[in-house]
Amino acid sequence: MNKWGKLSLGMLLVAGLMTGCGNNNKENTTAEGSGATTNTTAAAKTLTLGTSADFPPYEFHKVVDGKDTVVGFDIEIAKNIAADMGAELVIKDMPFKSLLNELSSGRVDMVISGLSPTPEREKAVGLSDIYYKAEQAVVVREADKDKFATMDSLKGTKLGIQTGSIQEDIAKGIEGAKLTSLAKISEIVMQLQSNRVDASIMEGPVAKAFVKKVKGLAITDAKPEVEDDGYVVGVKKGNTELLDQVNKTLTRLNSEGKIDQFVTAASELAESE
Ligand code: ARG
Repeated sequence: MNKWGKLSLGMLLVAGLMTGCGNNNKENTTAEGSGATTNTTAAAKTLTLGTSADFPPYEFHKVVDGKDTVVGFDIEIAKNIAADMGAELVIKDMPFKSLLNELSSGRVDMVISGLSPTPEREKAVGLSDIYYKAEQAVVVREADKDKFATMDSLKGTKLGIQTGSIQEDIAKGIEGAKLTSLAKISEIVMQLQSNRVDASIMEGPVAKAFVKKVKGLAITDAKPEVEDDGYVVGVKKGNTELLDQVNKTLTRLNSEGKIDQFVTAASELAESE
């Protein structure tokens, strides 16, 4: 296959990972797992989740039973929180950079979106206990794998990163790097494929999911160092009632070994056709 054939095939695959990307802010209801029995006339309690579903295996779009659905291990956690509360889960998909504002303004009740607990975020919103940990990875075009094998080798390169993410801060710390900030990881992947950026920094599990699906990309040996290597759930500042409930559900899921199961299942789902 010539270069252009490969490129367009790659684009097609990225487009597959982006399924439903035009549906930002679309609401998606999932009553599944909710133990609520409504035999009164009172309106059912809802729990609105804000997430940026561009992030396999955490949260991504998948056609399930012919229907575009937001799936992933963060979504399984959200379903369990809603079920433990007897509430109906409503999912709002939006750009990552909008999530914490939506939370503070009360348009979503909680954020689960591979969110890392930084000191600034800690000040702005309520953050739960850490529910999962992963390392950061550097993704490049396959041919450049050895060229960018250390963090030092990224000096002066063009880096594609997600707007508002901790990866943006990591990238800003790399001497001479030129940053292209984009709303979605899939857009960054397309920039890599079309030679407009040299490398990207993303969560290891996300890097693996894209490298498996998109031809011509690779993870290098470079290891970005971060202090905040875990993921937390965000709630509105001061909503201690919901925060307590979230932590209770996270403790339960952890003690049942469920989170690791969700991660495995979501990774398989992300790889499947
Ligand atoms: N962990 C990083 C952060 O908190 C990136 C999260 C991006 N999440 C997403 N669903 N796109 O900044």
